[in-house]
Amino acid sequence: MIETNRLDYKKDLEEVAVMFDGGDAVKVAHTQQTIGNTFIDEYLVDGTLYRFKNERVTSGLLELKRFEKRFSKLGLYSIFKQRFNAQFEWGALTGIRPVKMAYSALDFEKEFKEVFDVMPKKIELVKDIIETQRGLIDKNSEYDGLFVGIPFCPSRCTYCSFISSEIAKEKNIDEYINCLVKEINEGLKLLKNPRSIYVGGGTPVALKNEHLIAVLTALKPLLNSIKEFTVEAGRPDAINSENLKILKDFGVTRICVNPQTFSNKTLELIGRKHTAESVIEKYYLAKSYGFDINMDIIAGLTNESFLDFKNTVDTVIKLSPDNFTVHTLCLKNGSKLKEQESRLREGEITKMIDYARLKASENGYNPYYLYRQKYSASNLENVGYSKKGKECIYNIDVMEETSNNVACGANAVSKLVIPSENRIERYGNPKNIATYIQKIDEIIKSKRELYN
Ligand SMILES: C[S@@+](CC[C@H](N)C(=O)[O-])C[C@H]1O[C@@H](n2cnc3c(N)ncnc32)[C@H](O)[C@@H]1O
Ligand code: SF4
Repeated sequence: MIETNRLDYKKDLEEVAVMFDGGDAVKVAHTQQTIGNTFIDEYLVDGTLYRFKNERVTSGLLELKRFEKRFSKLGLYSIFKQRFNAQFEWGALTGIRPVKMAYSALDFEKEFKEVFDVMPKKIELVKDIIETQRGLIDKNSEYDGLFVGIPFCPSRCTYCSFISSEIAKEKNIDEYINCLVKEINEGLKLLKNPRSIYVGGGTPVALKNEHLIAVLTALKPLLNSIKEFTVEAGRPDAINSENLKILKDFGVTRICVNPQTFSNKTLELIGRKHTAESVIEKYYLAKSYGFDINMDIIAGLTNESFLDFKNTVDTVIKLSPDNFTVHTLCLKNGSKLKEQESRLREGEITKMIDYARLKASENGYNPYYLYRQKYSASNLENVGYSKKGKECIYNIDVMEETSNNVACGANAVSKLVIPSENRIERYGNPKNIATYIQKIDEIIKSKRELYN
């Protein structure tokens, strides 16, 4: 429970508090004031006053605000760290994009270690990712990515908080696809230097073939200019030879066949409605069409032990996909899991994440992109691993925010990157499908204004 005179970043302070088990129940009264280059933060915590004074020369208002927030968060982190006698691998870093932050720091290793208390193994991980990304991103060039969102799934998985509805219950699919195609047609005009397409979800292949074809047909004009075309096919129970053939015929180069886990017991518990065996069957089927394949797995799923997770990693490695992505379970509003549990059991999650990294490196996979999410177990990260030369460029561009992203569909967020001003402008489409359909013309107009 935080009271602060800085309402503009109260949420960020609360985020620091919830990292600690019981931290959100501690009463904190915080004030921050800036006098010239001096930042003074005071915290009254259960009758004890803590005072921090930091000095920093900043260039302009944006940077000043960034440092006000940073020092306030760091002060609270150090009080709670002592109080709860806790330690986190990412220390006080709470942002989604540590690699992007590393790129912009003068000496990131020093800053991560000395300012943010980040452990050496995570600094090494960031260094490895920067090494993999060398030559794949160009911070001075302006590429564009195109995202297309299909927010429908065969059923809802218990842990998932993405906006996605059960396809059999959705009444507006025809209208949604019509609007999406209209938005894509207009979106194509906003792309100056496209290099990747990502059709994500949800579960794109849960669509009827005619709907899938309508979306892919709209994307056809881009095929000659892009390097990579991903469809996050996703759930093995929705993948079949018909939709795989359609994807192949329309120029898709990369798809996801996601196990999440290879334990049938867990798959049932999390509502996946497919088996471990069917993942393997669909993986080989997809491979026979010549796609690059990614597999998503999650560490920390309900009731899973280290051995369950180890088996999942070992099975993925044996199948040898081009990429695999290791997520740390996070607990978010909008998921069934959040209704059942208020906090995640940490269990052996750190051991799981370390094991995945070790096995990846032993088997020729490099970490190539990383992001963190709020409310994830032990504040750990999600990492994409890839065989050399098979990295998903779209994932890198989106995570490091080095390219514009024209995003279509409900809940899609378009981004215009302005490197000269070190800032990004965004436009978010409505989350709700009915609202998206109703406002499609307004959405198209606003996006045109963003990019022109
Ligand atoms: C947008 S989802 C789409 C994937 C596809 N529908 C599927 O389930 O196979 C992308 C990935 O996010 C991950 N994910 C979703 N919810 C998560 C959560 N609460 N914690 C950690 N990872 C999560 C899963 O690994 C999932 O494959
Ligand atoms: S994890 Fe995938 S299939 Fe499951 S509800 Fe989320 S988006 Fe749908």
